[in-house]
Amino acid sequence: MFGFGKKTVDLDQDGLRQRLLDAFAKLECPHVCADLTSNGIIGDVRGDKGKVVVELVLPTPALKDLERLEHDVTAAARGVLGDGVDIELVKKFEVRPAAVTRGGPSDLPGVKNVVLVASGKGGVGKSTVASNLAVALAEMGCKVGMLDADIYGPSAPTMFGIGEGTRPGTVPGKDPNKPMIAPLERYGVKLMSIGFLVDTTTPMVWRGPMIASAAMQLFKDVSWGELDYLIVDLPPGTGDVQLTISQQVLVAGAVVVSTPQDVALADVVRAKVMFDRVSIPVLGIVENMSWFVCDNCNKRHEIFFHGGAKSAARDMGAPFLGDVPIEPGVVAGGDRGKPVVRDMPDSASAQAFFAIAREVATGVAKLAFDQGEGFAAPSVTITGGNIRGSADKGEKKRGLPIL
Ligand SMILES: Nc1ncnc2c1ncn2[C@@H]1O[C@H](COP(=O)(O)OP(=O)(O)O)[C@@H](O)[C@H]1O
Ligand SMILES: [Mg+2]
Repeated sequence: MFGFGKKTVDLDQDGLRQRLLDAFAKLECPHVCADLTSNGIIGDVRGDKGKVVVELVLPTPALKDLERLEHDVTAAARGVLGDGVDIELVKKFEVRPAAVTRGGPSDLPGVKNVVLVASGKGGVGKSTVASNLAVALAEMGCKVGMLDADIYGPSAPTMFGIGEGTRPGTVPGKDPNKPMIAPLERYGVKLMSIGFLVDTTTPMVWRGPMIASAAMQLFKDVSWGELDYLIVDLPPGTGDVQLTISQQVLVAGAVVVSTPQDVALADVVRAKVMFDRVSIPVLGIVENMSWFVCDNCNKRHEIFFHGGAKSAARDMGAPFLGDVPIEPGVVAGGDRGKPVVRDMPDSASAQAFFAIAREVATGVAKLAFDQGEGFAAPSVTITGGNIRGSADKGEKKRGLPIL
């Protein structure tokens, strides 16, 4: 049996524990923070039979460059302990809210981070990016929901293969007279869409305010449970619904999707301006339908203006999250109700979506860290239902209108 006959390593001898913690303090959590020790990334460190167990408390299961962190921690521990001892890393995850309410009721109990997916115009692949981002995060072990808030053109029913006429059930709410909607679930993602509530073949002729309040209901009346990330597929453009959601929901950040062409990029600037006005950080820009691989020559061909989103991101001071190729599998997956990250995980587009998901989750973790709540001593509980509550009332919550 493993470890049989081996002595338990005593970390209290020779100040070993402190020397380990000092060594970990010199390391960084990639893209998130320096000093693993005082930022709470190092959890329990204990001696066991013939080995030392180091617990890592990671800010997201989808951390970019996690392998580098694991390698660095192992090497640092090896430097202190020498070669005779095994080193075992145990990973735990604690996703923290990037937008924290100070005072006032929390708007979505249990939902740690709302991430908006927006685009200046329709047809650029916003729903495709939102769906694949949600499924990719779930595949990597995050607790994920997706809200299809595109009231005019809901696409979640098709993209997740929810048959026409499938209606979500209800669960008892806090108020016994007001049941909550139970989201549907596919591929590990909790799903809600206006398309689950109305007949999608009938065009909706609602007035603006009705649409905005319907969108808000989709947020508030759904029993989301515990979520690390709620991905929101916004309607295209920068209209009423987008603004209402941006102002009334505490949002961690926004992802803006574009195609490489100039016309689409001009709209990206508009989206960025809208988010700036409501103080929502833009997590970055995605360039979709950016390039393709030719069947005949197997070479990568770039679409006109490829790279436009990257330079637009640079001009705007927003991160560039990645480019996604045009691939038939993306359309096929979407039409068949199986997002490409699930349907063809090894395809170039799926790989691009996984990388983008890591960028987004890591960007949110960085924002949460930069909030100044401090990773080591959070003023919020991270295991309970409502992680946003905190005492000091009266402070402005981020996302409120500054129009
Ligand atoms: N990377 C891609 N490769 C191939 N087809 C794509 C890609 N991204 C999106 N599409 C297709 O383009 C169309 C529009 O995408 P969609 O996500 O519905 O856009 P939006 O939500 O911005 O209107 C869909 O048919 C979708 O399958
Ligand atoms: Mg769409």
